[in-house]
Amino acid sequence: MNVIVVKNDVEGGKKAADMIREGVKNGAKVLGLATGSTPVEMYKNLIASDVDFTKMTSVNLDEYVGLAPDNDQSYHYFMQDNLFNKKPFAKSYVPNGLAEDSDAEAARYNKVIADNPIDIQVLGLGRNGHIGFNEPGSPVDAQTRKVALTESTIEANSRNFEHEEDVPKYAYSMGIGSIMKSQNIILMAWGAEKADAVKGMIEGPVTPDLPASILQKKDNVTVIIDEAAASKLS
Ligand code: F6R
Repeated sequence: MNVIVVKNDVEGGKKAADMIREGVKNGAKVLGLATGSTPVEMYKNLIASDVDFTKMTSVNLDEYVGLAPDNDQSYHYFMQDNLFNKKPFAKSYVPNGLAEDSDAEAARYNKVIADNPIDIQVLGLGRNGHIGFNEPGSPVDAQTRKVALTESTIEANSRNFEHEEDVPKYAYSMGIGSIMKSQNIILMAWGAEKADAVKGMIEGPVTPDLPASILQKKDNVTVIIDEAAASKLS
């Protein structure tokens, strides 16, 4: 793991965007993308740059079950709003939160990932150490599936909803097995509330109790964290 400590998310987002631009220049064809507050600065930097995604493919990590693409809390909507409206890809994939058959949707998405091997996967980090919505206890070889969100994730994500009970209880998530097959990974984390998860991810044992710790086993992982998120590292 290559760990880069930056002052804040503005500096970190710029660093991550520079790495993506470099990757695209060097021939990356498929980006794996994340939502949430963490990558927002990176997306702003990409939008402001000359990077061209129009011949590329994007594959998102996850989507809430039950939310339509035009729901402003859906991850479809987030991606349109934060990136795709300004920097479109030739093809962009996000799981379908309205799919009637969750097994069929998971299988469809797994085929998307198999057909579009990810060159650079962008990740955020949950306070509980999740990556994608692979919550503690998730199998390390899992593929895309419908998952139950933990109370901690529902509470953390409720900041974006009017009421905590509006937060969906399930999501589709790319599995850790698929994430680990990406060629390169850039994980970002900002703020003191991520400090415990960051410490476990980098210095703790590799354990399903802290899903991101599996990244210790992978080459080509760059972790970009701010000083607050790094504050518990020894
Ligand atoms: C989002 C995702 C999640 C988030 C994580 C951190 O697509 O897969 O793992 O990256 O929950 O969320 P934020 O960035 O909002 O702190």
